[in-house]
Amino acid sequence: MRKYTDSELKAFGLTPDRIPKHVAIVMDGNGRWATAKGLPRAAGHRAGMNTVKEIIRFSSDLGVESLTLYAFSTENRKRPKDEISILCGLLIEYFNREIEEMHRNGVRVKGIGDLSWFPTAVQETVRNAEIKTAGNTGLKVNLALNYGGRAELVRAMRLAFAQDDEPDEDAIFRNLYTAESGDVDLLIRTGGDERVSNFLLWQIAYAELYFTDVRWPDFTREELLKAFRDFAGRERRFGGLKSNGAK
Ligand code: FPP
Repeated sequence: MRKYTDSELKAFGLTPDRIPKHVAIVMDGNGRWATAKGLPRAAGHRAGMNTVKEIIRFSSDLGVESLTLYAFSTENRKRPKDEISILCGLLIEYFNREIEEMHRNGVRVKGIGDLSWFPTAVQETVRNAEIKTAGNTGLKVNLALNYGGRAELVRAMRLAFAQDDEPDEDAIFRNLYTAESGDVDLLIRTGGDERVSNFLLWQIAYAELYFTDVRWPDFTREELLKAFRDFAGRERRFGGLKSNGAK
């Protein structure tokens, strides 16, 4: 739910009609952040967890409608078991600590991906957060866990074909995990790499892409504002001409 007034947004260098409605983030660079400081990778993930809190809060205050966060990809399953269990532990800790505040702020949480791969404790934590916040009407937070864009598309197409012999684009779209959030307006990737990494392949068809070298634990509110200002300055034509019809 937007907290800031139009003039407060203006002070941030933003206007309400130029705030991206659906923001997706590839939260990369936790490990390198930690290594650069001589810390174990787990410290990077913990610092990254605090960034998640800040960015959810600030996105809600700025009036973003949906925020889809890549917390764990299908490829992340190849990581050492220890690191995976640290990530699972952080996820549970995060929800235990933050769910009340998110709920008060009207945030609606949804886990997207094949959660059945995770230990029951993780599945239950996400499920409980979904149930608790299901009636909320503020920021939609989609947390991608054991998520892969191609797998999501196969799933959506299977569901669509089960409903209709000749599904159209809209039928596929309606069967995506993120149907209620619509297309992605702005895709942010931290950590210096400029790749999509199998994230929201259908939903980013017309997204603006924003890459930054800043590593996820260092991605502050000011960094989010930078991305939003950059987005606001872009001309989105969706394959058409400029809005005044000129070339
Ligand atoms: C990428 O950093 C990050 C991840 C694989 C996990 C994302 C997890 C968090 C932000 C913390 C916990 C999340 C929640 C929602 C509580 P990396 O390890 O790939 O970094 P590297 O490329 O520098 O190694």
